[in-house]
Amino acid sequence: MFLKLVVGEPLGQQVYHAFRRKILAGEMAPATRLPSTRALALELGVSRNVVLLAYEQLLAEGYAEGRAGSGTYVAAALPETPRIPRPQRDARRVRAPGSSPLSRYGRRLAELPPVGPGAVSVENRLPYDFRYGVPSADDFPGGVWRGIVARRMRAGSLGAMVYGPPEGQAPLRQALAAYLKRSRGVASEPDQIIVVNGSQQALDLTSRVLLDAGDRVVIEDPQYQGARRVFAAAGATAVAVPVDADGLDVARIRPRATVARLAYVTPSHQFPTGVVMSLARRLALLEWAERTGAYILEDDYDSEYRYEGRPIEAVQGLDTAGRVIYMGTFSKVLFPALRLGYLVLPPPLVAPFTAAKWLTDRHTATLEQEALAEFVGDGHFERHLRRARMRHASRRAALLDALTEHLGDRVEIMGANAGVHLVVWLSDVPARGLDRMIAAAAAEGVGVYPVAPYYIEPPRRAGLILGYASLTESDIRTGIRRLAAVVT
Ligand SMILES: Cc1ncc(COP(=O)(O)O)c(C=O)c1O
Repeated sequence: MFLKLVVGEPLGQQVYHAFRRKILAGEMAPATRLPSTRALALELGVSRNVVLLAYEQLLAEGYAEGRAGSGTYVAAALPETPRIPRPQRDARRVRAPGSSPLSRYGRRLAELPPVGPGAVSVENRLPYDFRYGVPSADDFPGGVWRGIVARRMRAGSLGAMVYGPPEGQAPLRQALAAYLKRSRGVASEPDQIIVVNGSQQALDLTSRVLLDAGDRVVIEDPQYQGARRVFAAAGATAVAVPVDADGLDVARIRPRATVARLAYVTPSHQFPTGVVMSLARRLALLEWAERTGAYILEDDYDSEYRYEGRPIEAVQGLDTAGRVIYMGTFSKVLFPALRLGYLVLPPPLVAPFTAAKWLTDRHTATLEQEALAEFVGDGHFERHLRRARMRHASRRAALLDALTEHLGDRVEIMGANAGVHLVVWLSDVPARGLDRMIAAAAAEGVGVYPVAPYYIEPPRRAGLILGYASLTESDIRTGIRRLAAVVT
């Protein structure tokens, strides 16, 4: 017989799989009689029940059919052509225009460079890892959060288990509207807010609702890759406008991109340079948007952390013409795996964005929204923020001290006034020698990352982006001391 039974896998399943494989491969033609259950059981040395079970499954799935009084047969209606399972072909190799199985959108995705530096593997982190985007597990009030989530799980009301509203839970939207008004000068009503799965989804929804292939989008240079990729995937043409010490140089938008649909900006703390957009530039950007009918997408991803200088309120709060779409995230202030963020929309955009959100994933998970509404509403969030701000301020001070002490005038520091990262330019290292220096630092246990990938026009100097949210002050000092030893 064709079948050798092995130990460890249910016997009925083995018999079923063996027949299934033979039938699909065309080795048992349609209408062929299967052995009688009794004979096969005897031959295999198993109980008749084992074979009966396998045959039942073949019958139920349509591989076989029973004929009254004469046994079990391979289904007569099956096609003759064998279907031998082959390994799936790699989608990236299916490229030839006209023959690609991918949509235009899919083909554009296939053209994008791989996402990097990628998901953070906590196990593989270097001891002194300045990777941007990693939170501090110690800063987060895990006990309070777990208490809220557990209580809500135990309550287990039906309301928390059925589909929720696509725009998000009302208590969270109310809590967010109040918080954003208080802390960021964002003028909004709760019904202008849509809760999203992190600001990446805010970017994706914005591009779905506002952009067609070929549309122009003004972006900062350098810029956040999460945004640049979304616009590239939409087939939009990115118009990169340089950033200087006052932020995006609005005067340089004209006249090339007067017909842009959107300008994506990070005015509170430009990513990655960290510069703050001046008030004059903010007003000029608003004036440009009003005049051209473009929207401004304001990404306020980390403005909660500000160490020096007066915080400048959001551009959204200065907007009198409904041109600003404001987005925020809990990735920096809580933790990124939470996947919670929000959009504040001009009223005419609420309905199309809500429809797009429903189509993408119906809504953001209810339990986390409810927990967060309670966390914000009961004051835990702002208490956590005050504490985290102090913790980050100490880390930042340690980093600035260590950079001054160990690298002195061999580095120029940029964008340290806010957020949880800064940029350093290394005067001793040629741009082309940076990879070697990064490898040497890694050999010393220090993880540092180049800033060049964020630029469209590559910088001539060697620059690093240093994230410091997850490190202790002492690790920061040791890391920079070791880094200095390889900066030559
Ligand atoms: C400029 C910018 N926007 C947004 C985010 C956060 O994205 P998300 O909310 O999808 O985690 C980051 C985080 O790296 C960022 O640097």
